[in-house]
Amino acid sequence: MSMLLIKNIGMLATAKGCSPLCGAAQHSGIEIIRNCAVLINGDTIQAVYDNDEAPKCENVIDANGLLVTAGLVDAHTHLVFGGWRQHEVPLKLRGAGYLEILQAGGGILNTLTATRNATEDELYLRAGKVLDEMLSYGVTTVEAKSGYGLNVEDELKQLRVIRRLKEQGSFNVVPTFMAAHAVPPEFKGNPDGYIEFICTEILPKVADDELCEFVDVFCETGVFNVEQSRKMLTYGQAYGFKTKIHADEIDAIGGSVLAGEIGATSAEHLIAVDDAGIASMARGGTIACLLPGTSLYLNKDFAPARKFIEAGVPVAVCTDFNPGSCPSDNLQLCMNLAYLKYRMTPEEILAAVTLNAACAVNRGESIGTVESGKQADLVIWDAKDLDYLVYRMGSNLAKIVIRKGNIVK
Ligand code: NIG
Ligand code: FE
Repeated sequence: MSMLLIKNIGMLATAKGCSPLCGAAQHSGIEIIRNCAVLINGDTIQAVYDNDEAPKCENVIDANGLLVTAGLVDAHTHLVFGGWRQHEVPLKLRGAGYLEILQAGGGILNTLTATRNATEDELYLRAGKVLDEMLSYGVTTVEAKSGYGLNVEDELKQLRVIRRLKEQGSFNVVPTFMAAHAVPPEFKGNPDGYIEFICTEILPKVADDELCEFVDVFCETGVFNVEQSRKMLTYGQAYGFKTKIHADEIDAIGGSVLAGEIGATSAEHLIAVDDAGIASMARGGTIACLLPGTSLYLNKDFAPARKFIEAGVPVAVCTDFNPGSCPSDNLQLCMNLAYLKYRMTPEEILAAVTLNAACAVNRGESIGTVESGKQADLVIWDAKDLDYLVYRMGSNLAKIVIRKGNIVK
């Protein structure tokens, strides 16, 4: 195994352990170590040393006094899709709502057609380009959802693309099955029938081919109600999958309450969450995956991040990269928005895009912190401290990105 030493680290900022940070610990649980070095053994972090006590090593990266963190984790993306939706922006600017566009056959249903018409190879190449871009931003793990096929063939096609991206090896991709993303034209007006179809016709095939780790559902007015969402997720659990839920994005219809009740790993969006939803998530140990890029892009309120932190719900921050509500794959931009709009501290934000996001994709044991035994995913930033990292807007400050011990940028 080859050894690699990162020396002259001015500031190493990292969470510790394998469980999400919540409450006051989302801030205080970030450890700041100055003037240190990190030794990597193959794909694993061996140890953190005081800079003067670091062992000799043939392969050395000089961090020149800069900030080092764990590789970022983007725990919510709709990575694989055909087409883009720039034609929707003027509609939105004229006042058309997200659900209005969807109900008129646009939105997700527009991407559905483009995704069904695309070949597996086309989808693979497109998504691969996005992953390269994300890696250049310092993101070393990404969750990716299906949900633009909405039939057996095309949902499996999307999930196979995700599997190929994962197997290609330069990236950690966590697959989520989200056929319950919209009601497809074949089941128009019949969401119950579609959920039954997913549970009995698509899910068993996904399970047979081991194509996902999570099941997700869009629980929202005019999409799937709480009972339909409960059925989808409990079927998923019966197959052994973990669960996520798009909840309370537009209306608080009970998605976040359901998340806590069934012990979902995470609930996402949560712009309109109410106190009952927050309390249920706190009880259920559900992580709040907040998506500030989507609030910005849809011109919506920003989710109440501080309320979640006060209630002891761990917060993760993710892009929601997709062709409609957030066509940006820049997690650093979301960190800046979390600073300005969620009023999270730089330390809370670091936890939100490393350990908490790792736990939101069930990877807390192996990634998300810079500690002995964890996978060697690290970023050397063009920044000296966390304050600067979250202060800059829209730039790419990732200078050197290391994944599994390999320098990938
Ligand atoms: O998380 N809200 C539902 N789904 C996605 C948007 C998908 C799309 O508009 O294509 C989201 O924002
Ligand atoms: Fe989403």
